[in-house]
Amino acid sequence: MSQQIFVMNHPLVKHKISLLRDKSTGVKEFREMIGEITMLMCYEATRDLPLKEVEIETPVAIAKTQILSGRKMAVIPILRSGIGMADGVTALIPAAKIGHIGLYRDPETFKPVKYYSKLPRDINDRDVIVLDLMVATGETAVEAVNIIKQENPKSIKFMSIIASRTGAETLTCAHSDVPLYCAALDEEINEQGYIIPGMGDAGDRLFGTR
Ligand code: URA
Repeated sequence: MSQQIFVMNHPLVKHKISLLRDKSTGVKEFREMIGEITMLMCYEATRDLPLKEVEIETPVAIAKTQILSGRKMAVIPILRSGIGMADGVTALIPAAKIGHIGLYRDPETFKPVKYYSKLPRDINDRDVIVLDLMVATGETAVEAVNIIKQENPKSIKFMSIIASRTGAETLTCAHSDVPLYCAALDEEINEQGYIIPGMGDAGDRLFGTR
């Protein structure tokens, strides 16, 4: 497996993923769980953020300590399910700008086609985290990264809650400089394009449109 695929191996994530997969989990709990898992994944995906030394005054002493060295970030959810993860990231990185990309699958070619893209104007000065609840075939993820790369961001990471092994490898082979962080990696995709066992239609479960 590519070294660029990181699967969360934390008991809290495993527990919450099990609840997400359960078809009896309702919309409210589903949304809350997506937010919580995203925060836990974001913690892992931002492990390499650079720090700088500062001196601050505590109520009792001077402390030499560290703060983030001012990296600018952008979060780009892929419409529509990626939106469910955006709050989880901005809870930890409140200054991040948010862009959006919308892609649909052409019914004849089955290729992803862009129908919407609004990215931060200064994205070339930012480290980007792309969000999608699921990476199934990986083609949408590859195309979203293609679109973002045209704007020359400093770096790109991809976060998804569940990826199929095929999708994860398709993304990280097409973009070997883009690490994928996922909470679970499933082995199969069925003929309808659903990840098996997966969690069903992620957008419908998130927005209650089932
Ligand atoms: N998108 C979904 O919503 N679910 C899947 O299983 C695959 C892609």
